[in-house]
Amino acid sequence: MSIHFDEADMSFHLRAGSSSYILQVVRGRCLAHRYWGPLLGNGRLAQPLVMIPRAFSPSPFPDDPLFSPDTVPQEYPAFGAGDFRAPAFEVQSTDGSTVVDLRYQGHRILDGKPSLPGLPATYVETDDEAQTLEIDMADPLNGLALTLRYTAFARRNVIARSVLFVNRGSAPLRVLRALSAAVDFPDAGFEMTRLSGAWSRERTPYRAPLLPGGQFIESRRGASSHQQNPFVAFSRPGTSEEHGDVYGMSLVYSGNFLAGAEVDQFATARALAGINPFDFTWLLMPGESFQTPEAVLVYSGEGFGGMSRTYHRLYRERLARGQYRDTERPILLNNWEATYFRFDAGTLTELAHSAADLGVELFVLDDGWFGRRDNDHSSLGDWTVDERKLPDGLNDLAARIESDGLRFGLWFEPEMVSPDSDLYRAHPDWCLHVAGRSRSEGRNQLVLDLSREDVCAYIVDAVSKVLKSAPIRYVKWDMNRHMTEVGSALLPPERQRETAHRYMLGLYRVLETVTAAFPDVLFESCSGGGGRFDPGFLYYMPQCWTSDNTDAIARLEIQFGTSLVYPAVSMGAHVSAVPNHQVGRDTRLFTRGLVAMMGSFGYELDVRRLSQEDRDEIRRQIAFYREIRPLAQFGDQYRLRWPEGDGGGAAWMYVAQDKREAVVTFVQNLALANAPVRFLRLAGLDPHVNYHVSLFTEAGQGRGIEPPPGMAACTAGGDELMAAGLVVPYLHGDFRACCWRLQSV
Ligand code: DGJ
Repeated sequence: MSIHFDEADMSFHLRAGSSSYILQVVRGRCLAHRYWGPLLGNGRLAQPLVMIPRAFSPSPFPDDPLFSPDTVPQEYPAFGAGDFRAPAFEVQSTDGSTVVDLRYQGHRILDGKPSLPGLPATYVETDDEAQTLEIDMADPLNGLALTLRYTAFARRNVIARSVLFVNRGSAPLRVLRALSAAVDFPDAGFEMTRLSGAWSRERTPYRAPLLPGGQFIESRRGASSHQQNPFVAFSRPGTSEEHGDVYGMSLVYSGNFLAGAEVDQFATARALAGINPFDFTWLLMPGESFQTPEAVLVYSGEGFGGMSRTYHRLYRERLARGQYRDTERPILLNNWEATYFRFDAGTLTELAHSAADLGVELFVLDDGWFGRRDNDHSSLGDWTVDERKLPDGLNDLAARIESDGLRFGLWFEPEMVSPDSDLYRAHPDWCLHVAGRSRSEGRNQLVLDLSREDVCAYIVDAVSKVLKSAPIRYVKWDMNRHMTEVGSALLPPERQRETAHRYMLGLYRVLETVTAAFPDVLFESCSGGGGRFDPGFLYYMPQCWTSDNTDAIARLEIQFGTSLVYPAVSMGAHVSAVPNHQVGRDTRLFTRGLVAMMGSFGYELDVRRLSQEDRDEIRRQIAFYREIRPLAQFGDQYRLRWPEGDGGGAAWMYVAQDKREAVVTFVQNLALANAPVRFLRLAGLDPHVNYHVSLFTEAGQGRGIEPPPGMAACTAGGDELMAAGLVVPYLHGDFRACCWRLQSV
């Protein structure tokens, strides 16, 4: 049993793995948050809620002036009746007021986990994996009824939360704010981590102490965005990779969001996450309901590494779906950085032929195959083959590629329309716009209005037709601008501010329909690189192109940041040409290979123009990756050294679930003359097992690089490797790398 209700003190104990979450109905009607953290063996709190007399903190109970909503730790706080802190929701009644008084009505404990209609969410496969608590709350006056839903996973430190709003009254209600989760921590002694960045610099972790007042991150771009990721974590000062308490909040949503915390006058912290209330309202007519997205709460007593591994396993096993969830992902070659828009059938078959000779398994044709798209100024929306480039069509191209032993994949950007397209000429009202105002373009394109049923149907039909026209085994689903002039031609004025969320609901319907209709296709999402690398998308597409920045050294930071929440197998990572197209850096092919092997591995360069030496190296890389692929894609990841740390390099490892095998990678920063001997203390191994360790370094690095005898291969105990560490060989040159395989003996 994961969830227990104690009738005597009206408290609920949610046991999730080795963590406890406790809430309590106080004064017969208010829902208070009591605890979240390491497992409490007694399953309850012996000590009551402490209420202290506070000036300027009002009470709704004349007989109990100590009881103030402003000081009670709340589960789902409202505004307007005594709590002055940032609320989790706000609803306007027909009389214009926004005062809400939520009262406990009852609850249910269910085995398993119900799905969220129309929204992506974590799931279970059997009912014994989790229990779900549904608590009904209602306002006595305006007809608002809420169901707070909590799923406690039996064997994971995970609580999944969401809220259903229902209008049970006879007058319309206007939802102004509907966050997915709130947690009132009893103190504010935390640091908050967020993943921030920009295009080509996604998801750098920033950690700073909580201060009095609000500290929130948000997206107002109509997508989860490159700039902020829908995730925050709260950790105790001094928390490290493997030690200390961390509380993660990750939102399963791909649109505008808000996440962060507010520290109040008594040094308590209220953490919040959900749809961004900015520019959002939702009209709830009598009988209608509104479902919030899901927030996934993870507690780790084992530092950031423990938190990440919990998210990795959950998102890999119980968020991602479909045939590819548990299937090794193919090694691909994408033609984008090899040709950009300049290709024809001959170029592509040559590339594929050359890639097949190297051992590549999937050939992906990127942007430029449709309409008359010779650059990014035209044709989005016209999903018919450009016969100037591919006179015999996609089927013929796919057949030629398959005859080389490769599978064939294709790029789409279905949510967009170019003003220079037949689609736009036929349906100028199909894009997001506000009548009478100009339509801002981004990358010379407009955003289709996916809040409209007819637009969604067009996309499903257009993509499906192409997918049926040829043996297409992989799809890259791109999106290359953010929303402006967010309005829909079909919505009435009072619903215009629903457009951005209705777009997401339409998009999710489209993704569900297309992915269900083509279950054998591997889908990879993309938004100018990792602009929509979020759990919402991972529900439909089990991998995402991590960043348009393919430079190995820049990628280290991006991939480490991404790995805070998202599993390695979900991160598309390619070896590209040097000098790198984004930053101009020259990095050894050996290093580029090892860095790309941190994620789902592939290549993105003109393989026809490689030297014999590079071709040999790529053959070795592919053979090596095939051997370690199950480990790298489905093992547990340990970040041994963050790239910007003072250890002179980045290091990470993957350990098999049964701990019989591991692979460790080290990439040094700038080379250091007369450097100290470096050790890597490994993690996650079985201390009682001996491992055969073999070292892989780049052949012919130059003087002094051959590992001394005894280092290239040895047998050592897991305990020694974790306590004494593994000696890093001398690596001659900037950004050189090495790698070890560990196999139990
Ligand atoms: C942005 C993507 O991130 C790139 O990989 C590539 O697919 C281009 N779009 C194509 O326009």
